[in-house]
Amino acid sequence: MMKKNILVTGGAGFIGTNFIYHALKIRPAWQITNLDALTYAGNPANFDNLPDESAKRHMFVHGDIKDKNLINKLFKEKKFNGIIHFAAQSHVDRSIQDPEIFVDTNIVGTQRLLDASYRYWKDSFLPADFRFLHVSTDEVYGSLGKNGFFTETTPYNPSSPYSASKAASDHLVRAYFKTYDFPTLITNCSNNYGHYQFPEKFIPLMILNLLEQKSLPVYGNGENVRDWLYVIDHCDALVTVFEMGKPGETYNIGGNSERKNIEIAHALCDFFDKTVKIYAENSSRNLIRFVKDRPGHDLRYAIDASKIKEELGWTPKFSFEKALEDTVRWYLSNKKWVKSVKSGEYRKWIKASYGKTYL
Ligand code: NAD
Ligand code: TYD
Repeated sequence: MMKKNILVTGGAGFIGTNFIYHALKIRPAWQITNLDALTYAGNPANFDNLPDESAKRHMFVHGDIKDKNLINKLFKEKKFNGIIHFAAQSHVDRSIQDPEIFVDTNIVGTQRLLDASYRYWKDSFLPADFRFLHVSTDEVYGSLGKNGFFTETTPYNPSSPYSASKAASDHLVRAYFKTYDFPTLITNCSNNYGHYQFPEKFIPLMILNLLEQKSLPVYGNGENVRDWLYVIDHCDALVTVFEMGKPGETYNIGGNSERKNIEIAHALCDFFDKTVKIYAENSSRNLIRFVKDRPGHDLRYAIDASKIKEELGWTPKFSFEKALEDTVRWYLSNKKWVKSVKSGEYRKWIKASYGKTYL
């Protein structure tokens, strides 16, 4: 079996963590170098439960994608077969509060990583099958009205500093393909949910507030629609695109699971009422509060994923209802993880273990 050295950036965040667990399980020849700056969203303790056989093939490197010397050193040592680039600032609400770090990480960071890897590839120091997979979002397309779907040719029209910075990074990745023939791939995926998601995002925030009987803040009238995809389905699609996608191409990834935010809040409340049963019967929905809307809040995202289905044979496997229940159960049975993430204990631990923290 030919060993493959893969660089994963941002692997200590939500999707990166799930990707590393999944990829090491289904690809026994992969050795993953996980480069992560450990911002507030990155947690190296996520890997405490990696099976021993996988743990041997996972190397964690604490560092920044903007650090060219470090990237060069890693390339020299590892001669990567490819990069799967997750590292980013990823939360829309934070981007509204403080856009600058989104430009710095998502645009400048992606350009530095692209450039360093392009230079190694150009001089033929990398394996012939090398490719750079940029993990992006459907938010670059802006908002849909009540009808229609995003395809790979939908014009970019981002609304938030987050989606604008991701759009810029996509353009840079595409430019490296067009200008230098550098073998890049882009995926634009819909909203993910699952294990290890930081509780600033809608679904884990609702679950943890329900657990603590806190109010459930729903922006505006709750009518905004997202196309939800279980994170393991996303990870599987990424392995598929990385191995089978055509360089220069973009693939949309979606879950065929459009839900209004209020429907998700109701589903979670009902699950708590019926199954978790910690409060008086049918009382959870009383916790819902409609709060001031997010500025520039996109009404609806929905993905047309026919290209990845027809060209690469990928379709989502998990049902929304079942995977949502599995996600709730994960948060219920991982109280230690939740407590440490919420209390900031893990930030202290990172500082003690790694010397410094970013943000
Ligand atoms: P996340 O915020 O949970 O994780 C981001 C990770 O990147 C963290 O571990 C963080 O420490 C790391 N990071 C940040 N800046 C860094 C830097 N300068 N150098 C190295 N590491 C750095 O994000 P996520 O939800 O896992 O998203 C991962 C990627 O997927 C992002 O690029 C995001 O745009 C994209 N995406 C996310 C979703 C979603 O629903 N979460 C959907 C589609 C696409
Ligand atoms: P979020 O998880 O932040 O993802 P994104 O903004 O990238 O789609 O939000 C998902 C949806 O939930 C979005 O329409 C905003 C809404 N939302 C709330 O209604 N309340 C909240 O507290 C949060 C964080 C999000």
